Amino acid sequence: MDIMTELRNNILGKGIRIVLPEGNDERVVSAASVLGRSNMVKPIVLGNKEEVLATVKKAGDFSMEGCEIIDPETYEGIEEMIAAFVAVRKGKIDEEGARKLVKDVNYFGTMLVHMGLADGLVSGAVHSTGDTIRPALQIIKTKPGVTKTFGYFAMLKEAKRRYIFADCAVNPDPSSSDLAEFAIGSAEAARMFNIDPKVALLSFSTHGSAKTPATEKVAEAVNILDGMDNLNFDYDGELQFDAALVEGVGKLKAPDSKVAGQANVFVFPDLNAGNIGYKIAQRLGGYEAVGPILAGLNKPVNDLSRGCTADDVYNTVVITANQALGAK
Ligand code: ACO
Repeated sequence: MDIMTELRNNILGKGIRIVLPEGNDERVVSAASVLGRSNMVKPIVLGNKEEVLATVKKAGDFSMEGCEIIDPETYEGIEEMIAAFVAVRKGKIDEEGARKLVKDVNYFGTMLVHMGLADGLVSGAVHSTGDTIRPALQIIKTKPGVTKTFGYFAMLKEAKRRYIFADCAVNPDPSSSDLAEFAIGSAEAARMFNIDPKVALLSFSTHGSAKTPATEKVAEAVNILDGMDNLNFDYDGELQFDAALVEGVGKLKAPDSKVAGQANVFVFPDLNAGNIGYKIAQRLGGYEAVGPILAGLNKPVNDLSRGCTADDVYNTVVITANQALGAK
């Protein structure tokens, strides 16, 4: 069974509620329609009801069966939501500011998740990454012990070739301790995709073959991991990508490594490398890039690419619902 089928089976009939703030987008409503009708999740689509239904009609043979439509403009619980917003921002926003921001569908949807009225959120088909995830960073926040969220891709090809690439989406210039956190979060993420994690912290150097501030940043991330108790996965770095992936090169360049030559989780040294790296694997390597999937938040929120298809929306909702299931 391929991993996406497994992930769909996990959530079928569980009633997991996923907010889709972009109810005026045809890709979003057609994915919501398929998900709602098949009882995969309970989509909560935001927007003016008539406009959403008009978008559904335009999208084709779809309906809102199994979905809930909420119009933020006429939402009865808005005062309670504003009060909860002010409370969670702890002095960073007043009532007037909160009242303005909840008019933004991403803030409104994120508040539904925060208040426990939904289990997760998927947006970004028409909004930028920043506009999609900023409300989550401010309101949902990272899990205890996690300082930064990051975005990973599950890179999939055929049934058995599965890798995790991180951070490809959020932090432009992570520190050593950020990279150590991403290694831990990526190992956890790998398990959702039935990958037994072997984590490589990547660089253009293998075990000191070059020494620059950039390579030492990665080596220091490994030192930080070495100083931690109870890590339940193998990791190593700094490693070049070929040493991490290819058995022969791994044996040659890092003969004592538990990871070199067999890595399946790749932590990139910065966002340039991560973002470019996953796109090379996708476009030249023919891998399906599932994500970006945000890790480390208290509740799952995920960002779509503006170039996404209805299938991408569907898959991202399935993954978000699995994250929500794991968090319960
Ligand atoms: N993890 C957790 N919290 C964070 C993070 C993070 N990585 N970054 C910022 N925050 C928090 C801050 O602590 C702050 O919280 P507070 O208001 O409670 O104090 C809040 O989020 C806002 O912080 P800002 O620094 O103002 O964050 P900003 O609004 O500037 O943007 C963002 C954050 C959107 C993630 C920014 O770093 C960004 O734009 N990153 C790059 C995204 C991108 O363009 N990716 C590439 C495209 S995606 C793709 O191709 C797959």
